Amino acid sequence: MKVEQLLQDPYFKYKKVLRKIIAHVEGIDLNQTYLDYSLTNFSLIKKLYDEYVTKKKPLEYILGYVDVLGEKIKVTPDVLIPRPETEYLLNDAINYFKQQRVDKYSSKKALVDVGTGCGVLWGVFLKKVLEFDFCKQKCFEQIVFTDISAPALRVAEENVNNLLGETKPYIEFVKTSLLERIKWKSDIDELWVLANLPYIPDRTFFENAEENVKKWEPHIAFLGGEDGLTLYRQLLKQLEILPFKIVWFFEMMSWQSNILKKEFESFKLETASTFHFNISILKVLKS
Ligand SMILES: C[S@@+](CC[C@H](N)C(=O)[O-])C[C@H]1O[C@@H](n2cnc3c(N)ncnc32)[C@H](O)[C@@H]1O
Repeated sequence: MKVEQLLQDPYFKYKKVLRKIIAHVEGIDLNQTYLDYSLTNFSLIKKLYDEYVTKKKPLEYILGYVDVLGEKIKVTPDVLIPRPETEYLLNDAINYFKQQRVDKYSSKKALVDVGTGCGVLWGVFLKKVLEFDFCKQKCFEQIVFTDISAPALRVAEENVNNLLGETKPYIEFVKTSLLERIKWKSDIDELWVLANLPYIPDRTFFENAEENVKKWEPHIAFLGGEDGLTLYRQLLKQLEILPFKIVWFFEMMSWQSNILKKEFESFKLETASTFHFNISILKVLKS
């Protein structure tokens, strides 16, 4: 059967989804689905399409990956599917890092990915920064990825291995709540944090989240307590007592960032960028 025949079949209403599934199953580029191509595995294409329609399974879980800044990131129902906001956050963090002209001699730096999920934040960041001449592997003395979910950490480790390959520095993957079980090296004096923790108020999630999100994605990746800020407050308190300079990028709704700015005056909380639905990327500094 030809691609075009299948696409004209009224059974398949979601044509874009169908094209992506065809490309995935057939191992061809999306562009090739516009050409005269004969399908080799119709039954699998139909099975996956039906999972999308009847089971409401997100396409990213069906395909098994999502594209973030041009990098292929594995996703399973154990991890949140990175959203477009992730790319904004990464761009802000990478640009700041470039501006700082960080090098391995400037200070003893550690980095931590708190609530790493699929490992996308520091995974993609490291892939991009390890390409800079001025910052090879030795830029960071200690690198830690944490999550409260062991299955998520396994996905993160796989993604980091795929992203960094031979260039991969030594990385600790720690199952813990926030920073609780991390043992910092004694000579660290600066900590870089990327932590995109859950920030949706519990009620908002249960009342407003899309049904396929509620059905398929891990709730622990969304639920942030009454006002969404429970884990942010806990992490800021943990960071407050660390004897390091801190740089942290994260994302949340703008009204929430205003609350944190008032509650944590010992930190410099700046809005790095704001975009649709009033979501802000925040940069937090402590000297
Ligand atoms: C919104 S997801 C972000 C995942 C990933 N960093 C990203 O940007 O796609 C939040 C993550 O925080 C994790 N998490 C929730 N509570 C946590 C806690 N107390 N300590 C550490 N991780 C936690 C969840 O398992 C989930 O992987």
